[in-house]
Amino acid sequence: MNSSPWWKEATIYQIYPRSFFDSNGDGEGDLPGVTSKLDYVKSLGVDAIWLSPFYTSPNKDGGYDVANPRDVDPRFGNLEDARELITQAHKRDLRVIADIVPNHFSDQHEWFQAALKSKRGSKERERFHFYDANEDGTPPNNWISLFGGPSWTQVEDGQFYLHLFDSSQPDLNWENPEVNADFEKTLRFWIDLGVDGFRIDVAHGLIKEDVLTNHPDPQGLSNALRLDVAMDSDERNALLLTVPYFDRQGVHEIYRKWRKLFDSYSGREIMAVAEAWVHPPVNATRYVRADELHQVFNFDLLTAEFNSDVLFDVVERSISLNATVNALPTWALSNHDSPRVASRIGDEQARALALFVFGLPGSTYVFAGQELGLPDGQLQDSDRQDPTFFRTNGAIKGRDGARVPLPWSGDTTPFGFSTAKPWLPISQSWKDLTIENELADPKSSLHLYKNALDLRKEFLVGAGGITWLESSQHGHKSDSLLSYSRGSITVVMNLSDSAAECDAAGKLIIVSGGTVDARDGKKVIPARSTAWFLT
Ligand code: NOJ
Repeated sequence: MNSSPWWKEATIYQIYPRSFFDSNGDGEGDLPGVTSKLDYVKSLGVDAIWLSPFYTSPNKDGGYDVANPRDVDPRFGNLEDARELITQAHKRDLRVIADIVPNHFSDQHEWFQAALKSKRGSKERERFHFYDANEDGTPPNNWISLFGGPSWTQVEDGQFYLHLFDSSQPDLNWENPEVNADFEKTLRFWIDLGVDGFRIDVAHGLIKEDVLTNHPDPQGLSNALRLDVAMDSDERNALLLTVPYFDRQGVHEIYRKWRKLFDSYSGREIMAVAEAWVHPPVNATRYVRADELHQVFNFDLLTAEFNSDVLFDVVERSISLNATVNALPTWALSNHDSPRVASRIGDEQARALALFVFGLPGSTYVFAGQELGLPDGQLQDSDRQDPTFFRTNGAIKGRDGARVPLPWSGDTTPFGFSTAKPWLPISQSWKDLTIENELADPKSSLHLYKNALDLRKEFLVGAGGITWLESSQHGHKSDSLLSYSRGSITVVMNLSDSAAECDAAGKLIIVSGGTVDARDGKKVIPARSTAWFLT
């Protein structure tokens, strides 16, 4: 079954280019490396790739510190390489989503360099958020950066500039029309080069209000905003309702303009997905109103416990909230900012959850390496590169564990990723998790993903909504089961540590682990496993 437009129920494979495949032997992945592995990507059964930033950047924040948004950083190749990647992806019927970073530039961007050389109040400074110090010399307010430490850095003449992330990432002033004009130029640049869509970084952050007002608990707020900091969920949610710099109404005006720009490319179906982690969750639906963006990430599964009530709530809420604006949800179990799902909830649980999620309506995002069941890399502090680690003096380890390069082949690290020392070490313990090994093992996580994505395409894309069969709220029969039907498929997940019976009718077509038995006319689902039945 085909759904139209292409992005509506797509499976999108997130590639962190620096960690994917190194084509030139410098220890870092690059764009030609991605191009050379597109057959592998295609073989997974995905519809599109999302490339994390590969633009000119001093790389203080993994490329999310952009010094020139309309060029390629030499570590990744050049513009011709980007063009070739897009061409080769399209030849394989894979769409390409670029990552645009509108909340901030790198301090090495020519605008910021010009601002540093200009006077207070100059038009160069008005592209950013420059303010005078308080009378006692302290920064304009007490906000703490999402990477730790103050959100303000002082320049030579005594003014401070705002940076919600690293001091090398000055926030842009979106009240200044020059900023939008420049981003529209960037969007057109990449669309003209061939990209099919954009992932919008910190999409909810562009408009700032109350920039001179203190927050009552700036450290708590900064922690609550980090997916890699564990926190009681009530405490987190209460803090998240108080963020002064995210999700202001003005951001929607920007996306309405961008939507017009996307739609002006008739016949191209350009899409955009917002990275907008907002609270309460209903606010996320505003980003996907008919005249705004196409998708908004749902981050709940990145932190949700492997528990039937929790997962029921996440799925039900996301489907029903999106339905209020006629949109479909998105699902992601891992990304480059959060612990890998296999490390967070366990190997078998990660497979079970993936198979559960692949049946759901909407788009599914798969972070490269997730298909292999990769855990987080175990790193020494001396290996770490995430600015969070440095800005918190090591108190928060940061996100490098999820960014360790992919193991491709062979028995010895770095497993074919590079001929040189990789930028982050790949543990020898990943020997059995190489793509080569998993391709040879029909029971591997890789085969589960490939088979599931094929079946999803065959039976579920475009199959409409779900009907809950088993959950605490819907005819609860067992604490351990969560089950729904959709189209001709019944999906049953057993979250418990022992096998559990269910009434699902139909023929077993895939199971995430173990063997499904039949007993007294019932199906027995193995512990920590999901099965699909076809009726
Ligand atoms: C979200 C990105 O996913 C993350 O990697 C980055 O550090 C911040 N935005 C800042 O751009």
